[in-house]
Amino acid sequence: MNSDSTGLTRMDSRLSGFYKGSPAERRQALIDAGVDPETVESLRGGALGVDGADGVSENVVGTLEYPIGIATNFRIDGEDTLVPMAVEETSVVAAASFGARMARGTDGFTTDVSGPIMIAQIQATDVPAPHHAKSTVLDAADDLIERANEQDPVLVEHGGGCEDVQARVIDTPRGEMLITHLIVDVRDAMGGNAVNTMAEALAPKIEELTGGDVSLRILSNLADRRLARATCTVEPDALETDDVELSGEEIRDRIVNAWAFAAGDPYRAATHNKGIMNGIDAVATATFNDWRAIEAGAHAYAAQDGYGPLTTYEVDADGRLACSIELPIQVGTVGGATRLQPTAEAALELLDVDSADDLAGVFAAVGLAQNFAGLRALVSEGIQRGHMNLHAKNIAVQAGSPDDLVDEVAARMVAEETVRQDRAEELIDELSE
Ligand code: MEV
Repeated sequence: MNSDSTGLTRMDSRLSGFYKGSPAERRQALIDAGVDPETVESLRGGALGVDGADGVSENVVGTLEYPIGIATNFRIDGEDTLVPMAVEETSVVAAASFGARMARGTDGFTTDVSGPIMIAQIQATDVPAPHHAKSTVLDAADDLIERANEQDPVLVEHGGGCEDVQARVIDTPRGEMLITHLIVDVRDAMGGNAVNTMAEALAPKIEELTGGDVSLRILSNLADRRLARATCTVEPDALETDDVELSGEEIRDRIVNAWAFAAGDPYRAATHNKGIMNGIDAVATATFNDWRAIEAGAHAYAAQDGYGPLTTYEVDADGRLACSIELPIQVGTVGGATRLQPTAEAALELLDVDSADDLAGVFAAVGLAQNFAGLRALVSEGIQRGHMNLHAKNIAVQAGSPDDLVDEVAARMVAEETVRQDRAEELIDELSE
């Protein structure tokens, strides 16, 4: 373990060779690295159970298991961080770990979060004079803020609460509408419940002020006041691979060109951003955060000036690949469902974050690592080989391979370029003789 500037001990996230172990060996490696054995046991999963799940959703009949992997090598704001990721797609955890490793040589990721500010919207239709009503709403801002904050004294006690009111007249296919925004500091919560309660409570007052009819009272997932940013630089040497005859500088420049492709073409930008969300959604799933909210916010943000990539790649003055990401991340460390799910709670403990802002910074760093690791593979050897190696293992397992033959069956199928269940079955028979 390392000591950080606060004197707290932190894990070394490098965990060399972690990927080679069995799940049980990896759990032991976490304990050896200093992770609380109870946290590790909870990460093993299964603790929610059907009864626990029954309290989370409706009409529950069972649960669905996801693999949880630990992305290694992350250094975020000077601290080593082990990142739990729950995802069904092969290569995602490996790519995040590899991205973090490439950035580690230059001290990893620096993050910055604009603050836990959510927006609630109140829609007023049939407003007789919407522009006049807009001024009336803004004149009443102090009263509206006070009324909103009466809804959540605990949030206010913790330094949060409604801070501002905005009003917009928008043109719609059904005529002009007056939309009031409540700007709310939700502290360490995702904040959906807090802001929705405030919006609902203010509806009668908005009707009184505007003479209109209030209909929707709901948060906006375009949380553009809750932006998370992460940056890192990567030395060209770190980008090199034995698999292609390209220098680190050539790979670096191809990555910048890949970003430019996404910046110039929404067809590519959608896939580019999907690669980012592979990492972000996996951390959201592991921590039981609402990944649909994050997805909605990310793509709406990416579309603000014509749909484009959420990351940027440049070459800095020292010839390094300079990588950055900016997107809304609406996540919480309190409230929400995380504490209802023991595995998710353990995932949050492993991340060891102090606030929702810190958690958002981790999400941004993971999205960035995921993206440039993917791009590096795409511009060099392509992603299929890595994918196929892992896919082949899945096929071997599905074909009924005993544990000790999985690697051999997979390796042979990949070498033969025949990754199919029937071939896996033949190989299992052959190797079992
Ligand atoms: C696959 O899940 C994600 C990628 O397609 C992302 C990308 O193309 O940048 C590899």
